[in-house]
Amino acid sequence: MSLDTAVCLTGGQVLQPDGSLETADVPIAGDRIVEAPAAGSQRIDCRGYTVLPGIVDVHGDAFELDLHPRPGVAMPFAIAMGSVDRQVLASGITTAFHGLTVSWEPGARSLAAGRRFMDGLRALRPRLTADHRVQLRWETFAHDALDDLAGWLAEHPTPALAFNDHTTSTLEKVNAGSHRKLDQWAQRAGLTREQYVAEAQTVGRRAPNVPTKIETVAGLARRHGAVMLSHDDRTCDERAGFRSLGASVCEFPLAPEVASDATARGEPVVMGGPNVLRGGSHTGALSAEDAIRDGLCTVLASDYYYPSLLHAAEHLVARGVLSLGGAWALVSQTPAAAMGLQDRGTITAGQRADLVVIDASGPWRLVHTVVGGTVMRFGR
Ligand SMILES: [Fe+2]
Repeated sequence: MSLDTAVCLTGGQVLQPDGSLETADVPIAGDRIVEAPAAGSQRIDCRGYTVLPGIVDVHGDAFELDLHPRPGVAMPFAIAMGSVDRQVLASGITTAFHGLTVSWEPGARSLAAGRRFMDGLRALRPRLTADHRVQLRWETFAHDALDDLAGWLAEHPTPALAFNDHTTSTLEKVNAGSHRKLDQWAQRAGLTREQYVAEAQTVGRRAPNVPTKIETVAGLARRHGAVMLSHDDRTCDERAGFRSLGASVCEFPLAPEVASDATARGEPVVMGGPNVLRGGSHTGALSAEDAIRDGLCTVLASDYYYPSLLHAAEHLVARGVLSLGGAWALVSQTPAAAMGLQDRGTITAGQRADLVVIDASGPWRLVHTVVGGTVMRFGR
């Protein structure tokens, strides 16, 4: 249902900015939540349902599988991202930051693939419904990408930028002779393991130049007001280095002390929704549920599975870890603030009309997603 007229979501249990639930109407005019319904508003009966602010996903990369459903197989961009648009909406995600890896690898994570993605999204954006944004995941050894990064960071909406170093851990795996991951990555890049290792060893020689390149890219990001995230920090010192360059968000810290140091400073700490749903990390990293219990994780990201955010919140409520308001803050209010988006994340007049309506009377079921005032209905 796409409506040019004003609408009003009536009689639902509406999440308030303080985390409480109140029976209330949510009037919408244009793309905003307003104080009072306009005369002639179309009423959408939400009695028995819960009305929540739309999900803000700071890092999702499940789109990679739509673009490349098999290694070496690329689907047409508009078809793949059209499908991703519907997937995120059906998962309650109204703002999606696509984690676009820009690496030295050939294949799906190459600079050429990054260019195709950025060009494709720019052209397609007016035809998509959710608010699609980009989190540039720059591999800090990918030094050929700097000119492109400079151009992308100057675009609107400004992408976020995450500093990724998977090169060092790749070389550690080479040294340890651990082959399973290497085979997986080589396949993604369309290389044999031997070719992949040779490529990694070649770029590994750039290590002495990496700190300077990081400073250059951080300077570009600061100039454009891009939110910066450090990724997979292993130590507090590593995090401190990125903090000093302006990286305000700590994403997927690998040690509890990194998370506790960051949260003590009031920094957002991001972990994965799938980690919550599965009861642990698939890579053996920190348990997100434990971290949330300990107050060490304040933002959940869909990571590799879009439905995980809605259902991670459900899981946390069902297990008594958090109240609904507390759990929902992890997927809406806090990520919106972390990404500098002040116009979303709570249900208050003046905010973007980005909303999710769920039936929480049994296992959670999404009923409506509203993006910028456009109401979509899912299911009966
Ligand atoms: Fe990572």
